Amino acid sequence: MKPKSKVLIIAGSDSSGGAGVQADIKTVTSLGSYAMTAVTAITIQNTTGVKSIISINPEEIYNQIIFTSKDIRPNAIKIGMLHSVNVIKSVSRALNQIKVKNIILDPVMVAKGGAKLIDVKAVGLLKSKLIKKALLVTPNIPEMEILTHTQIKTKEDMILAAKKLIEYGAKNVMIKGGHLKTKFVNDIFVNRKNIKIFKSKRYETQNTHGTGCTLSSAIATFLSCGKPIKKSCELGIKYVNLAIKSNPNYGKGHGPINHLNSVIINKKFK
Ligand SMILES: Nc1ncnc2c1ncn2[C@@H]1O[C@H](COP(=O)(O)OP(=O)(O)OP(=O)(O)O)[C@@H](O)[C@H]1O
Ligand SMILES: [Mg+2]
Repeated sequence: MKPKSKVLIIAGSDSSGGAGVQADIKTVTSLGSYAMTAVTAITIQNTTGVKSIISINPEEIYNQIIFTSKDIRPNAIKIGMLHSVNVIKSVSRALNQIKVKNIILDPVMVAKGGAKLIDVKAVGLLKSKLIKKALLVTPNIPEMEILTHTQIKTKEDMILAAKKLIEYGAKNVMIKGGHLKTKFVNDIFVNRKNIKIFKSKRYETQNTHGTGCTLSSAIATFLSCGKPIKKSCELGIKYVNLAIKSNPNYGKGHGPINHLNSVIINKKFK
């Protein structure tokens, strides 16, 4: 098959391959589209935790976005880890220039093992500058609590916080429910007109490394192919759910999920 669309990923590298740019490329590719990248940082990590983070110069992040997009125009952009004020400023400046509408912002703040991936000042700027530029923002519960200064314990709290983010200027919000210890996982889509709760089966596993990165990339891919936003969220959740279900159980900590769950290998290559 030929790639269905083109997606630009702006995110950090995860040496263990389960999250970050690596998860994003695998997701976009497994869903049939073409992935391009602007790497914001290099993390040295495995399934048990993050060892160190090496920042990429903000000007070089800007250059990766501009130089790549000028040549191959993306149909959608997924934004992940942006760790500092200067990185957010550079990405924001680049987005102003390339004017792509389908922007999915995953406001990554803390890694699954607990390591902080963004500094405090950067959170403020993310809120004031970047959220407004995105078509969809996909915070998890701890991130949403920080962004909206709320405490989230129930579905109703999730909806209230999402509405607050809409008041701050977000167009569409998908708040992820992975962190609430409910029997089913509820991911909730909210905009000014709609509230849609996506209920999925929760799996008892610690192998959920990169679920958030994977979800935002999957949604970006479906949007890049022209699917409507709610449908893109629904399909993205389904893809992540099956990827968790069929996880390969690698590593001693929070292991990766199975990005290949959508792929059938051609007989010629078997
Ligand atoms: N145990 C689970 N079983 C089924 N689905 C899950 C589970 N954990 C997370 N998910 C799904 O994975 C997606 C990502 O949600 P989550 O809340 O884990 O994001 P996140 O915290 O940003 O992930 P990450 O730690 O990778 O950044 C959501 O669609 C959520 O429903
Ligand atoms: Mg996340």
